[in-house]
Amino acid sequence: MQNITLNNGVVMPQLGFGVYQIPAEETAEAVYQAIKAGYRSIDTALLYRNEKETGEGIKRAIDEGLVTREELFVTSKLFIGQTPEDIAAATIQQSLDVMGLDYLDLYLIHQPYGDSYGAWRALTSAQKSGKLRAIGVSNFSSAKMIEFASLNDVKPQINQIEVNPWYQREEDQEWHEKYGVQVEAWAPFAEGRHDLFTNPVLAEVGQQYGKTVGQVVLRWLIQRGIVVLAKSVRPERMAENIDIFDFELSEKDMETIKGLDMDESAFFDHAAPAQVEWFMGYTK
Ligand SMILES: NC(=O)c1ccc[n+]([C@@H]2O[C@H](COP(=O)([O-])OP(=O)(O)OC[C@H]3O[C@@H](n4cnc5c(N)ncnc54)[C@H](OP(=O)(O)O)[C@@H]3O)[C@@H](O)[C@H]2O)c1
Repeated sequence: MQNITLNNGVVMPQLGFGVYQIPAEETAEAVYQAIKAGYRSIDTALLYRNEKETGEGIKRAIDEGLVTREELFVTSKLFIGQTPEDIAAATIQQSLDVMGLDYLDLYLIHQPYGDSYGAWRALTSAQKSGKLRAIGVSNFSSAKMIEFASLNDVKPQINQIEVNPWYQREEDQEWHEKYGVQVEAWAPFAEGRHDLFTNPVLAEVGQQYGKTVGQVVLRWLIQRGIVVLAKSVRPERMAENIDIFDFELSEKDMETIKGLDMDESAFFDHAAPAQVEWFMGYTK
């Protein structure tokens, strides 16, 4: 496993396992299997409704001696309604209690809406008191990230955003590098949209190395210096997705993949009025 050092010196695995859309009753098993497969970074969120079960999977892996807590890197996030400072502080403690952990390795503001400055005060305070090792944001545009990094004393360590072959965001990555904010990619496979897993260009690149489309995509992100989260409930795919550290894509293949960029989200535009209106349903 390759690691990345964040702007506050905290070291994290460059590839992680995400539990979005894993039903609560399947999450503990999935997290346990992922740790067994070698993943050390686990990403959940209050919104995913499986923080508790994520904690249970972690506990089982630790109890069985597969890993120690210190070897794991655990992330959670608060949503829009939890952004006011006092609610954010209580939500951080709630995440810890529900997951059965003394500290989290990373905690994120999930969306760029609500009282993000209030939430940030709560996150920085929890970081100072040792409850959170690293703190960051998610789904912030580069513009919002620049404002936020400039006006706060503590800059975000991470911005977790959509990055995949259809939405490559090279310019956004450059802006984040300028501010020392690490880009973390969600939905690296675009959840399979635009037939990602059968894309002939990606398949042909993979054939040269004896690797699958999924492995090519993850490796491409790793070589770009991006932290990546992949999700699968199937142990064989968990193993496939982590088996990407024994080959290197050539510059030519990196260029070929560049040609697939559609420069548009495979899901939705976070700033589109109808989308923001939908988000406003999560302010309470
Ligand atoms: N901050 C945010 O707003 C945000 C938003 C979305 C996601 N995330 C985070 O990012 C993580 C990853 O994103 P995601 O779960 O949305 O999507 P993703 O990782 O792009 O795609 C997951 C999908 O791909 C399938 N899959 C995984 N590996 C495969 C392989 N090797 N071959 C074929 N199919 C494969 C999975 O199916 P099976 O499970 O059936 O294998 C699942 O349907 C999430 O779990 C979450 O932690 C964050």
